[in-house]
Amino acid sequence: MTMDSAEFRRILGHWGSGVAVVATHPPGARPWGLTANAFASVSLDPPLVLVCVDVRADTHDGLHVAGAFAVSVLAGDQERLARRFAADDVADKFEGVAWRTEVTGAPVLEDAVAWVDCRVWAAHPAGDHTIFVGEVLAGDAADRLPLFFYRGGFGRFQP
Ligand SMILES: Cc1cc2nc3c(=O)[nH]c(=O)nc-3n(C[C@H](O)[C@H](O)[C@H](O)COP(=O)(O)O)c2cc1C
Repeated sequence: MTMDSAEFRRILGHWGSGVAVVATHPPGARPWGLTANAFASVSLDPPLVLVCVDVRADTHDGLHVAGAFAVSVLAGDQERLARRFAADDVADKFEGVAWRTEVTGAPVLEDAVAWVDCRVWAAHPAGDHTIFVGEVLAGDAADRLPLFFYRGGFGRFQP
C-alpha cells in the first residue's frame, strides 16, 4: 500500500522548519534558485549538508551542471523572497534581488540569517527528487531571527 500524496503532504506539513533559498550559477548561464526546506546538516568531518531538489525544478539541472550551490537561510522579514523563489511564473527570480558570490560563484542572498557555499560532493536519486550532498567550503551566520514554515504557512520564529 502506498500513501496518497495529499496525505503525505498533510502529515509532513506538521514538521516545522526554517526556509532557505538554494541557488546555483552554471558557467555561461544565468543563476537559478528555489525555495527549499529540505535542508539538513549531514556530517561534521568533512562538513556536509544536504538539499533535496525536485527533478522537475529548473534549478535541478543547473545544480548538476555547476557542481556547486549556496544555501541562504531566510530571515523573518524575507517572506517575500521565499514566495518569489517558490514561484513558477517569475522569468528571472534574481531580478531586483541583492546577492553576491563567495567561493564557488553560487549566489548568496544578502541579509540572510545564515549561508553556506558548497561544492557538490554527491548526488543521490531519491524518487522524484535528487539528494544533493554539498561539502561546505565557506559560510557565516548573523544574529537575526529566521523565517519559519509550518502547515503550509510562513511565520516568524521567536525563542
Ligand atoms: C516553504 C517551501 C519549501 C519548499 N521546499 C522545497 C524543497 O525542499 N525542494 C524542492 O525541490 N522544492 C521545494 N519547494 C518548491 C520549490 O520552491 C518550487 O517548486 C520552485 O518553483 C522551483 O523553482 P525552479 O523550477 O525555478 O527551480 C518548496 C516551496 C516552499 C514554498
